[in-house]
Amino acid sequence: MPGRVRDTVHHPLFARLFTRLSAAAEERGQAEHRRENLAGLSGRVIEVGAGHGLNFKAYPGSVREVLAVEPEGYLRSLAEEAAKQAPVKIRVVDGVADRLPADSDSFDAAVASLVMCSVPDQDAAFAEVGRVLRPGGELRFYEHVVSERARLARMQRALDRLGIWPLVAGGCHASRDTRAAIERSGLEIESCRSFRFRRGLPELITAPKILGVARRGQPRRSGRDEAPRRQSTPAPSSSSEAATISAMQL
Ligand SMILES: C[S@@+](CC[C@H](N)C(=O)[O-])C[C@H]1O[C@@H](n2cnc3c(N)ncnc32)[C@H](O)[C@@H]1O
Repeated sequence: MPGRVRDTVHHPLFARLFTRLSAAAEERGQAEHRRENLAGLSGRVIEVGAGHGLNFKAYPGSVREVLAVEPEGYLRSLAEEAAKQAPVKIRVVDGVADRLPADSDSFDAAVASLVMCSVPDQDAAFAEVGRVLRPGGELRFYEHVVSERARLARMQRALDRLGIWPLVAGGCHASRDTRAAIERSGLEIESCRSFRFRRGLPELITAPKILGVARRGQPRRSGRDEAPRRQSTPAPSSSSEAATISAMQL
């Protein structure tokens, strides 16, 4: 519900189901998407809605530390265990996307994977991401979004409107236009590719996926002092990728 921050997330059944089903999705190619999403990151990173820590092992050694925010108790306890095995320093904390437990301008990068479908207010969540990123910092996103195909989009909207998908999938929405929400937030999208990943039942509904980079702008400087913009894109996708339906480099 826009405008209201919920401090807790309690989806014990979904949390257990998700940890079981996600193992198969990782094997079907999702682990590769995660690696692509995190490739080349460095410095201090905040991960929003980290779940049970499936991204953790994919953080490159150039990352100094990760603050992993996860509001669901069962998932957070598993994430704390996963953090102990991670190749980089990871601190797991309670908190929600709409009110991140972090100082402004304090992170080089933020990571959102398969989470902005579940937050109650996307605009508030991306505003928070923009707040905690330093100027020039980047958001790496990997999310499922509303389909560009009319029939599937109609079904996704109906599942959301009737509350069916949010009920079975722990508050997830199938029909969100997350790319538009990033653009509304003022973060500038540098790259965004959209692709289908339909190897399992949940992916029939949660398609397509988008994966890319958005950046918080640098403060404006006048005239010849203007700093050149840094470019950053994730590593190219792997050959194990499900059929790519479009690729855009902006
Ligand atoms: C489908 S899981 C994805 C978990 C993880 N990001 C991943 O990539 O595996 C969705 C996650 O969003 C989290 N979530 C739900 N509402 C949230 C909120 N308001 N703020 C932050 N995380 C939230 C859930 O607890 C869950 O961990």
